[in-house]
Amino acid sequence: MASRVVLAYSGGLDTSVAVRWLTEHHGAEVIAVAVDVGQADHRGGEDWELVRQRALAAGAVEVVVVDARREMAEEFCVPAVMANALYEGKYPLVSALSRPVIVRHLVDQARKHGAGTVAHGCTGKGNDQVRFEVGTRALAPELEVLAPARVWGMSRRDCIDYAAKWEIPVSSTLEKLYSIDENLWGRAVECGAIEDPWASAPEDAYVLTEVTQARPVAVTVGFEGGVPTSIDGRALTPHALIVELTRRVGATGFGRIDAVENRRVGIKSREVYECPAALALVMAHADLEDLTLERDVRHEKIRLEHRWAELVYDGMWYSPLKAALDAFIVESQRHVTGEVRLRFDPPGVGRVEGRRSPVSLYEHDLATYDDTDAFEHADAAGFVRLWGQSVATWAARQGVAPASVTSGRPGERGGAR
Ligand code: ARG
Repeated sequence: MASRVVLAYSGGLDTSVAVRWLTEHHGAEVIAVAVDVGQADHRGGEDWELVRQRALAAGAVEVVVVDARREMAEEFCVPAVMANALYEGKYPLVSALSRPVIVRHLVDQARKHGAGTVAHGCTGKGNDQVRFEVGTRALAPELEVLAPARVWGMSRRDCIDYAAKWEIPVSSTLEKLYSIDENLWGRAVECGAIEDPWASAPEDAYVLTEVTQARPVAVTVGFEGGVPTSIDGRALTPHALIVELTRRVGATGFGRIDAVENRRVGIKSREVYECPAALALVMAHADLEDLTLERDVRHEKIRLEHRWAELVYDGMWYSPLKAALDAFIVESQRHVTGEVRLRFDPPGVGRVEGRRSPVSLYEHDLATYDDTDAFEHADAAGFVRLWGQSVATWAARQGVAPASVTSGRPGERGGAR
């Protein structure tokens, strides 16, 4: 009996060629698994029947289309909001969030179809191979992994010729401008003119953030326990909320990221992203945490958020440290409830204009500069004296002259010549 391989299938050139290649070179029966993570939700939806036909034409013995959009929204995007997740302070993890969703379904289908191997279409240069393979090993260590595009040595031209030879219908042409990965959380664009980090990214790289709205847009996002639950007072599922926010905020040009990032495989790459909903939600959520989290919790969380994003970027969604950080984050979200008012000024500027919460820790009576405030001014003197006690002792016994502003070194005189 031929061995069965479950392939992560997108309907594009590479994965279509991979179906045939695995059949030819491994004598495999290929089960193509296409996972809908919202890749077409911002542009009218994907034609999954076409994707199915293409996989069959390429030689798949079976095609499975999985609708994972709710899962993507609730189990991956929402935790990313709770973690205010931005890799290297910029990138909301678009591709990094979708791979563990896909992996979960590959493993599930491998078990259902008695397949001993899963395969993906990634090359050896990117992060996505890491996410597919480390994720698979975490969930199903018994499965083998194949990465045909890492070994077949075909150029884009070769792949197009290979598809033609086997009569695989593909829409790709040689003049493809960019490599694009998209899902509910946004769009990642690389290659072509973007590979010169000094060159401005061409306007046609952007789709979700084309400015079609001339006037400012105001949006109020409501959160309950850290989960975004409403827009302008209307309750929405996370999926519907992300789709609507992408459309409304993207129309003002907000959500573009142009960055050089450090890949896990040790190279720097220049990427552009457009993630209107992700950036708006993280901005709003972080602001609500400023209002509702106790100071030490907020500070510790800021330290851990960076690590969470790094783990997810590095393909460690299913890992013990990620699970432990999740426990911290979930506990921290109990009172992250309230509303944040955002304003977007075309082209591309967004900010928080106001926030409120029934469990706000902002105490007006303590904060006000009014002379009727409730703050115990007399307590401050003793508090500050003790706070600085150790520094005062150090200064008296060992302290050196203060650092010069111009030389930057302690005890050195700057300025006066
Ligand atoms: N650099 C981003 C990441 O590693 C985006 C990758 C996009 N993937 C792609 N196949 N174009 O998450």
